[in-house]
Amino acid sequence: MTDTIPQAIDAIKQGRLVAFGTETVYGLGGDACNDQAVARIFAAKGRPSFNPLISHVADIQTAFRYGTATPLAEKLAQLFWPGPMTLIMAKPEGSPISDLATAGLDSIALRIPALIEARTFLAACATPIAAPSANRSGRVSPTLATHVAEELGEAEELAMILDFGPATEGLESTVIDARGQMPVVLRSGSITSEKLASHGLTPQPQDQQAIISPGQTGSHYAPTKPIKLNITAPTAGDIHIAFGRDASPMSRFNLSPKGDIIEAAANLYRTLRLADKIAGGQITIAPIPLEGLGHAINDRLSRAANSERGFNAISK
Ligand code: TXA
Ligand code: MG
Repeated sequence: MTDTIPQAIDAIKQGRLVAFGTETVYGLGGDACNDQAVARIFAAKGRPSFNPLISHVADIQTAFRYGTATPLAEKLAQLFWPGPMTLIMAKPEGSPISDLATAGLDSIALRIPALIEARTFLAACATPIAAPSANRSGRVSPTLATHVAEELGEAEELAMILDFGPATEGLESTVIDARGQMPVVLRSGSITSEKLASHGLTPQPQDQQAIISPGQTGSHYAPTKPIKLNITAPTAGDIHIAFGRDASPMSRFNLSPKGDIIEAAANLYRTLRLADKIAGGQITIAPIPLEGLGHAINDRLSRAANSERGFNAISK
């Protein structure tokens, strides 16, 4: 096994994907700081929308470099990391983590797996690894390398599968929002509410917190300008974002001049932020084809267009 780690590191450096075992389930990993790699994760899974992903790191010190520590997060980390626990923390200003990995949120999910092989791989990567469960969207999570091969073996984005044996827990990590005084369990798992309470950390009900549960998107990055979709003929004053070959002199940005949908996904959040900074007007966006990742891009954009404050106030 060890002789495949250097190949895996090369693949990660090139922005390709590596599936790897953890004690919970197998993850489909890519460099969390590389927009293209993260876009490839969504493409390989065939997800119809951009859910925020968990960034995996090898040790606690590294975790608190990418997520802002709170006394609660530090306490939970001491108790349950490495292990089947994911902590939601504030994403620091200027974070190198891709906006696509955090789905435009101002928070980040971090996990340190217990499985030693997984941590050896993560340490060697020297970059956080964004990884959802390594199954196609809507299917059960894989607990064996052979499951991953069945699910994603055909995916051209997947460079290799690191076989770390059976995922012994077989259940995804407990997701805990650690930004407040007390934990809020966003996804239950083997770090149960009872276990938390036995350490004096009684979980608060989710709805007392104004925000995010898994798959929901409370505080997404919010463009302040109105957004109009499927615009082929922008007018003066519009801040136009094109896609593919584009002859319009009005365009300020192009998500992918060569019409590559993965590249467009990789550029989406950054481009919206830049467009929002330009004075005046509304943001107009060229039609994005409804194929592959195009579904997820259109899903995200139409929520932005239909909500009062851009990406804010979005929920599914
Ligand atoms: O055990 C696991 O957690 C596995 C292994 C591979 O680590 N990973 C996994 O990832 O289950 P995924 O993408 O299938 O689930 C990630 C969960 C989702 O429920 C997502 O909504 C939540 O984490 N999540 C990620 N970032 C979040 C954020 N900033 N705020 C709230 N929830 C977040
Ligand atoms: Mg999953």
